[in-house]
Amino acid sequence: MSHSIKLAILGLGTVGTGVINLINDNLDELKRRSGQDITITEVGTRRHRDDIDPNIMQSSDLMAIAASDNVDIVIEVIGGTTLAREVIMHAIKNGKHVVTANKALLAEHGNEIFAFAEEHHVHVAYEAAVAGGIPIIKVMREALAANKIEWLAGIINGTGNFIMTEMRDKGRPFADVLSEAQALGYAEADPTFDVEGIDAAHKLALLASIAFGIPLQFDKVYCEGITGITLQDVNYAEELGYRIKHLGFAVRRDGTGDDAATGIELRVHPTLIPQDALLANVNGVKNAVLVNSHPLGQTLYCGDGAGAGATASAVMADVMDLVRVLGSKDADDKSNNGHHVPHLAFIPEQLSDTPILRAEQMTTGYYLRVHAYDSPGVLADITRILSDAGINIDAILQKPAHKVGQVPVIILTLPVVERRMNLAIEKIEKLDTITDKVVRIRLDELA
Ligand code: HSE
Repeated sequence: MSHSIKLAILGLGTVGTGVINLINDNLDELKRRSGQDITITEVGTRRHRDDIDPNIMQSSDLMAIAASDNVDIVIEVIGGTTLAREVIMHAIKNGKHVVTANKALLAEHGNEIFAFAEEHHVHVAYEAAVAGGIPIIKVMREALAANKIEWLAGIINGTGNFIMTEMRDKGRPFADVLSEAQALGYAEADPTFDVEGIDAAHKLALLASIAFGIPLQFDKVYCEGITGITLQDVNYAEELGYRIKHLGFAVRRDGTGDDAATGIELRVHPTLIPQDALLANVNGVKNAVLVNSHPLGQTLYCGDGAGAGATASAVMADVMDLVRVLGSKDADDKSNNGHHVPHLAFIPEQLSDTPILRAEQMTTGYYLRVHAYDSPGVLADITRILSDAGINIDAILQKPAHKVGQVPVIILTLPVVERRMNLAIEKIEKLDTITDKVVRIRLDELA
């Protein structure tokens, strides 16, 4: 072993502890694969931990660790966007490579952080920030580098998928399943990030930038969570041959067709997808990303999307890349040897200004649940409004009255631009025969 590469781990929560365990379990493999010795020299923790190897220095002074001469690679797993940002910028300034699992930080400040890293000739690696243990960043940046990405669709929040799966399969209440996801270390510090779709939106922003070569634009991601999904809709969807999954979509639109716009759709929302689609059968904490690219076609990447082991696996894959860089003979040029891939896959000067479409410009199919009085002509009124708006109905299902005289009507539509659907729903809700707000959930055939 010619070098000893020194690691600092900032944060000893689920992921930080997972990284230490992985290194302890697999150190021989890591050394044999990299040809380098690997040592954790410092950890950043608020409270002293007695269960950590006494040779590792423990400190709560994260800025000092980020600048320490005894550290080559800083692993940031504290989360959050304030202290984490300061510490990462300080590490970069001090010539350290950084590995982070912090999707919120990169989605919101990645443009600035990556530019700063390039200026200082170091890397900020972030495999663990998206889809847990699935090596999707490496796949998109490297393995698909020759393809033009048309669209991607992914289950990219493990907590949300776990909740949806348990609700559907076991009829368990939402709050109960969320508590279990927290106990298992899947959920964010603030679990509303999981259930409101914000965590998925962070990850989608990262995936979309890599897919299309655009700057990070988290603020333009349309975002809906899973809190409004009821068992009633889950069951109706199943009856019609669909399953509701919480998905993130990044779609390139070329503006052809009726009132379609040119640009990129970035959206996160519950979605009906065909029951027999592979994505529909990705359950529990599993994540999956389906990428449609030219000329390759569709490829699917699946694995555990959260939890200590899965996330540590992704963190250490990045560490291994950097260990090889640092251990190479030309280690003086830290940014280049053996690791030429730009942070967002495209060279920074070539990032494109393709617009991100607004919600009303996006095109999807829809599931509508309309509650109406059970009287002649109600269905005709609804279908006429949809037809006047140029909306094509794909299936329709009228259920028996659940309240005296009131029937739920379920309608599936073909893809339509959201602006038209908004207008149609507004008109439907004004009908005297309609008793409640229309429930709408997007639908995608994933074709
Ligand atoms: N809270 C996240 C999830 C953790 O449930 O997917 C992994 O990013």
